[in-house]
Amino acid sequence: MKVPQNFADAIVDPLAYAEVERVDEALRWLRREAPLARIEPRGYEPFWTVTRHADILEVERQNELFHNADRSVTVISMEAERSIRQLTGGSPHLNRNLTRMDNPDHFAHRRIAQGVLLPQKLREREPRIRAIAREFVDRMAEFDGRCDFARDIAFLYPLRVLMEIMGLPASDEPLMLKLTQQAFSSTDPDLNRSGKQVSDAERVADLHRLRGDVTTYFTDIANDRRKCPRDDLASVLANAKVHGEPLKNYELVSYYGLVATAGHDTTSNTIAGGAWALAENANQFAKLKAAPELIRRHVEESVRWETVVKHFMRTATADTELRGQKIAKGDWLMLCYLSGNRDEAVFNEPYQYDVGRTPNKHVAFGYGAHICLGQHLGRLEMQIFWEELLPRLESLELDGTPTRTKANFVSGPKSVPIRYRMN
Ligand code: HEM
Repeated sequence: MKVPQNFADAIVDPLAYAEVERVDEALRWLRREAPLARIEPRGYEPFWTVTRHADILEVERQNELFHNADRSVTVISMEAERSIRQLTGGSPHLNRNLTRMDNPDHFAHRRIAQGVLLPQKLREREPRIRAIAREFVDRMAEFDGRCDFARDIAFLYPLRVLMEIMGLPASDEPLMLKLTQQAFSSTDPDLNRSGKQVSDAERVADLHRLRGDVTTYFTDIANDRRKCPRDDLASVLANAKVHGEPLKNYELVSYYGLVATAGHDTTSNTIAGGAWALAENANQFAKLKAAPELIRRHVEESVRWETVVKHFMRTATADTELRGQKIAKGDWLMLCYLSGNRDEAVFNEPYQYDVGRTPNKHVAFGYGAHICLGQHLGRLEMQIFWEELLPRLESLELDGTPTRTKANFVSGPKSVPIRYRMN
């Protein structure tokens, strides 16, 4: 079935993700009419959109057949790809981190940070995470009943937790927030490096400059932690060995950069999206207030609802078949997590926010070999935050119109103005 051009264009359009409805409409149509479709948005190489939940799992399960490293793991225009290849001397990636690796390197690199992020290790950190959550809940109380929940609370709490786990000073939080927003929101003039709408080639040049700043910052940190290791993730990465050798600086900086960005912005956006959903659905807020044991499900529902990471790309390593269609070696596939998490075949009333939703087998953390390494940390931070906030929150409403970032890869709430009463 021919995919209407406006739907193909919406799938890559950063603005469509800020508006939500336009991208939802395209994904709904694709799930129903062409669950595995070859689309060709203007200015992009053709690629397959994998929109059904079951097919996303099917691709992620086969990580030898569908690679991460061979082409870009985020959808990029031909202009952006040309610029990246020029800057890197032929590579499709500006960084070499876990998301851009396949085995055997992927497995060897993933093990490095895994130990720090295991549930049993994180349990030791729980009291400290709770203390930080309380600080932010107190801050909310001090605002006197009105704040921008995204900017004043949600963007800052997971950032503080992550900085402590990495072992980075609190004074660097504003810098880290800025670098992260520039990385994930390079298509949003409010948050990108140039502060204006830029062409894809300029955007790539900005991302390359950003990579320079990240390299300077983390090279100093790594040198320090090699000389004086501490009990922090920065030291674990600086002193790690793969196949008996220390990481090359390029890979080490990429690793730091990945954890420093993926490690807070995703959780922040999800918390902001959860608050937005509760503020908009008075009955769900009341239900959660009356049954705090539902917090765990509310957390999962906020992760499904926001699906902060909208997609990842894979590249076929051999000719194969999926959903009865022939995929050729070298073909590019988009795992549409947002669509998987709205799949009517898996979720009852997928466009409703349901604090009690169960089961809730969303794919917002991905699946398979690359499944989110920080999922336990993200869940723990959110669980603790809501446990601390909800008993003190007596009312919650929107106090204006929330907005979202204009980005097609990682995007979420930019501003969530709320009005509330606290005890
Ligand atoms: C609600 C919060 C979060 C969401 C929705 C999220 C989502 C994702 C997704 C979709 C992937 C790709 C999975 C795949 O390819 O199958 C991923 C990978 C990753 N995430 Fe998260 N993430 C979150 C929080 C975190 C946190 C807190 C950290 C770190 C402390 C983190 C670190 C990573 C890393 C290192 C990877 C790469 C894993 C690999 O390629 O092997 N994430 N995340």
